[in-house]
Amino acid sequence: MRFTKGAAVAAAGLAVSLLVAGCDTSGGATATGGNTKEVEVFTWWADGGEKAGLDGLVGQFKTDCAKFEFKNGAVAGGAGANAKQVLASRLQTNDPPSTFQAHAGAELTDYIKAGQVEDLSADYKTWGLDAAFPKGLLDSLTVDGKVYSVPANIHRANVLWSNKKVVAAAGITAAPKNLTELFAALDKLKAKGVTPLALGKDWTQLMLLESVLISDLGPDKFKGLWDGSTDFASADVTKALGDYKKLIGYANKDRDTFDWTDAEKLVMDGKAGYQLMGDWEAADLDTKGFKDYDHIAFPGNDTAFQWLADSFVLPKGGKNPEGTKCWLKTVGSAAGQKAFNTKKGSIPARTDATAADYPAYQQSAMAEWKTGVVVPSCAHGSACSQGMQGAVASAIGKFSSDQDAAALQKALSEAQKQFVTKK
Ligand code: BGC
Repeated sequence: MRFTKGAAVAAAGLAVSLLVAGCDTSGGATATGGNTKEVEVFTWWADGGEKAGLDGLVGQFKTDCAKFEFKNGAVAGGAGANAKQVLASRLQTNDPPSTFQAHAGAELTDYIKAGQVEDLSADYKTWGLDAAFPKGLLDSLTVDGKVYSVPANIHRANVLWSNKKVVAAAGITAAPKNLTELFAALDKLKAKGVTPLALGKDWTQLMLLESVLISDLGPDKFKGLWDGSTDFASADVTKALGDYKKLIGYANKDRDTFDWTDAEKLVMDGKAGYQLMGDWEAADLDTKGFKDYDHIAFPGNDTAFQWLADSFVLPKGGKNPEGTKCWLKTVGSAAGQKAFNTKKGSIPARTDATAADYPAYQQSAMAEWKTGVVVPSCAHGSACSQGMQGAVASAIGKFSSDQDAAALQKALSEAQKQFVTKK
């Protein structure tokens, strides 16, 4: 397993536009803080496969931690687009949830450096977690020898999903293996009158750009973008931005108003051929009963496995630390990881899972995780801090309307100078 520890730190200072799901499924307790049994779990898993995964974990928590009550603090919106803003303002006003979801790597490091989360090193020993997770993953949760969160899973970001019937009807008989073949396939879909590539807003566009960068730069240079050893102003990146611009030309025009599930719906409804999305899509399509789908690594990414991990923390000053520790112990346990990951599309972070317990997609991901070349994700926090992520996402959002590749490259390069500390 070849992991990269993500780049350094910066705080997010983003405007707030909220969509709060926040429903209480605890079956009684409602007042935050008034109830010592209550463990408020803050995520962005509000619907579909994400909610199914959370429900699996909650089922295990109810068994393991019967004297505590789960309170659902979910804030809907893919990749935490809304949740992270709500969380930032709650942390600022000293009103943390009992626990919150944070991506392993640079994103978690932001919270650690800001002094917002507790050291869990002693609990790791008590719960036997030191030996349960791969070293590279533990490194991404550790600062100055102290480990700060419990990982729930490993997701893969660079997956191209397709509607099998739509792709076959367009005469695409073999999966595209590189960008040239992908453009040829997209042309066939266009000729059929369907949207060749379903796309959503900012962070989903960043995922697409990252996949193109992996294809054009190769995994090593791609990793270098996030630790400063590859320059965003380089000619390789110029070429990748040209390919990215071309790809955007095949996407739906209303992309900037779409979350990932809206783009996914175009694929499910037979209105689009392909969508680049993380493998939470597997669980979501399954939950929605859609079976006619296929998946491949993004063309040209070869064996690159773009990883990210969801983890849970113990916030400083959070309510009910005892109940929260019971939640964290469940998250890290073999039973908790199975209850969650069999439903979430991700693979367990623990190394002792039995592949046969998992759906077919996760079995293939487990095999690829073992043999693939591991690269991190900026859109999902393993590669870059929240400051860098915000700067990159806004440059990409601007590009979505003005299509100015030179301006995009300049903005990416400036973000790199501002937020990435060279190794
Ligand atoms: C999270 C996944 C989630 C996805 C879409 C990612 O940032 O790590 O757990 O399914 O966003 O919301």
